[in-house]
Amino acid sequence: MLKKSFTLSLIAILLTPFISFADEGMWLPLLLGKQEADMQKNGMKISAKDIYDVNNASLKDAVMLFAGGCTGEFVSNEGLLLTNHHCGYGYIVRHSSVERDYLTNGFWALNKQEELPCDGLSITLLVYMEDVTGKVLKGVTNSMTEKERNEIIEKNSKEVISEATKDNHYKAEIAPFYYGNQYFLYVNEVFTDVRLVGAPPSNIGKFGGDTDNWMWPRHTGDFSMFRVYASKDNKPAKYSKDNIPFAPKKFLKINLSGAKEGDFTFVFGYPGSTTQFLTSFAVDDVQNFDDPTRIKLREKRLDIYNKAIKQGPAQRLRYANTIASIANGWKKWIGEVRGLKRLNTIEKKKDFENNFNSWCQVIEERKENYGGLISSFEKEYSLRKKLNMDVLYLREAVLASDLMKNARNIYGLLDRIEKGKISDKEEIDLFSEKLLSRMQNYFSNDYTNHKEVDKAIFVDLMTTFYNDYSKENIQSSVFGNSEEIGKNPEKYFEKVYETSFLSNEKKTNKYLKKFNVKKIKKDPAIELFALLWENIEIKQLPALGQIEENLDSLYRIYVRGIMEKESSKQFYPDANLTLRVAYGKIEPYYPKDAVKYLTHTTIEGIMEKENPEIYDYVVEKKLKDLYKRKDYGRYKNEKGELPIAFIASNHTTSGNSGSPVLDANGNLIGINFDRNWEGTMSDIDYDKSQCRNISLDIRYCLFIIDKFAGASNLINEMTILE
Ligand code: ARG
Ligand code: ASP
Repeated sequence: MLKKSFTLSLIAILLTPFISFADEGMWLPLLLGKQEADMQKNGMKISAKDIYDVNNASLKDAVMLFAGGCTGEFVSNEGLLLTNHHCGYGYIVRHSSVERDYLTNGFWALNKQEELPCDGLSITLLVYMEDVTGKVLKGVTNSMTEKERNEIIEKNSKEVISEATKDNHYKAEIAPFYYGNQYFLYVNEVFTDVRLVGAPPSNIGKFGGDTDNWMWPRHTGDFSMFRVYASKDNKPAKYSKDNIPFAPKKFLKINLSGAKEGDFTFVFGYPGSTTQFLTSFAVDDVQNFDDPTRIKLREKRLDIYNKAIKQGPAQRLRYANTIASIANGWKKWIGEVRGLKRLNTIEKKKDFENNFNSWCQVIEERKENYGGLISSFEKEYSLRKKLNMDVLYLREAVLASDLMKNARNIYGLLDRIEKGKISDKEEIDLFSEKLLSRMQNYFSNDYTNHKEVDKAIFVDLMTTFYNDYSKENIQSSVFGNSEEIGKNPEKYFEKVYETSFLSNEKKTNKYLKKFNVKKIKKDPAIELFALLWENIEIKQLPALGQIEENLDSLYRIYVRGIMEKESSKQFYPDANLTLRVAYGKIEPYYPKDAVKYLTHTTIEGIMEKENPEIYDYVVEKKLKDLYKRKDYGRYKNEKGELPIAFIASNHTTSGNSGSPVLDANGNLIGINFDRNWEGTMSDIDYDKSQCRNISLDIRYCLFIIDKFAGASNLINEMTILE
């Protein structure tokens, strides 16, 4: 089988000597003209202008940045939008209580009055983008220091932004591309009156949970619905009862006939971050230190939380979200390491760097511009190692427990008082009252049970931190004179937990009611936190920041060199949470020897996975009844099955969650929500044969809204093509 696909793609390459094949790449919608021919050759029936156009309504007017880290899309002319369940999650939770558990039971507004305002939620629509490299770099010369360069860039950027937002309600920002070789201006409209409209029960929206996360085959109904409201003149406005549904310039039509293997698709959304140009030194750090260390530390936390949730539904409710977010990174990094090893990325990068160096030697000018780059990278990365390690342990081990997070809050006030930033007694009282009420809130949430969990996390992770550093004989660099800890670290940290006022409600009341700097400073938890924070964050972070800055400027020159060296190659900039188009095909893949993964899943797979004993695999009775009756209405495929999810070779990353997946005509066929595990190294090294994005089939989404929830009011708003 593998052989066959190899010959096929060889033929394809031979047939299309100059045009790249749909696979890797996250393209700027403004510059799609260059990709248009390739997209059309691969099956697209619309034009680049249909996707992005400044003067006329285009698909870009239907796509938004949702909640600052996800994507959403309009599906009606009344501001109705779709995104992922895991993107709307926080807002669904906030509206849920024990009596009205929307998270567990789902929520459907049957009319606009029932929609729920979401304080703090915003969506961003792109009005237009523009290449402003010339304006931003005006006055910048090669002989400048980085500092001088940055000052000019900042000043120029401010001018461009204020020009773009003069006399209008737009918000603008400038984003660097290719490490500052290019700059684009983004002029946006930001809406803050966004209301929750619908969400399936979590055993649909999160079906498969962390067990299935990052995996194919998948059966998650990962969607939720919101509506954007605007002022009477259709402009952004803060929440008001008098606001009216926003009328977007464009909304997506829905294609119910779906797409088959081999069909063209594209994803339009806001990918967050990729690092395709990393040098071998950086990948070595990721693969051999960052990822393995984070995996190890997170595993410890997950073990403790996973034990805790076995105690009952209250514990599950309390820790489910924490587990989901810890597990998401954990599982991705395991896949990433595996993928990088499989692709031999470090060796490939080394070869590339050697090649680059030889290329530099040929011409004097190149030698001058790029000659010393690779060895400078090597030097910076070796300087970065220890600093990076400290910061990683601070984030993943120290700040893992609530004890240390609470200590950080209190340390914050302490520090400001000590530095004389706050001296007014009333002001101090005000702040400490706030801290106290936060702590009271914390204690009131079943602290007796939680304490055991949090203490276990604190003791385990701090002990690991200390022991790891002892093994390397570097513990004193952050723990100071640590003789006492060294005798029995576990016991020591247990004692810290037990004797700190932060693990005792009464004492906390006493300590915070009268904010006694001297006493608080002596608390063992605060003392420990202050020691680590000052030794790492305060002392080392600036140095790390400086190295990152040096690296950025090396990368800027390096990437320019790479582009000069491979001048016929089409480059795309790394993802940076700006709007992009990725295109590909609905394609199967071969995850391992003798195994082929097909492109679509159906409701049969939900029933196969069903297990009332396992939380992640409980199936709603109502869904089962519909299944038994095969009552899929117009949402079934040509074989009469109900499609659930599909995979395609669109290059996506985190932030693409909720992105519309569109067919050759630009109609909606799915909602992107994940990648496959075999492809999780794609942020660093994209492998066309293994990397797939996972999308919810729009037919399952509509089936749930219509047949399962009976929210025909929402279906009626949409334009559905059968
Ligand atoms: N892996 C997906 C992404 O990175 C989904 C995450 C949410 N789901 C979960 N089970 N943790 O966002
Ligand atoms: N699940 C990711 C997200 O939420 C998407 C991905 O990483 O592919 O953005």
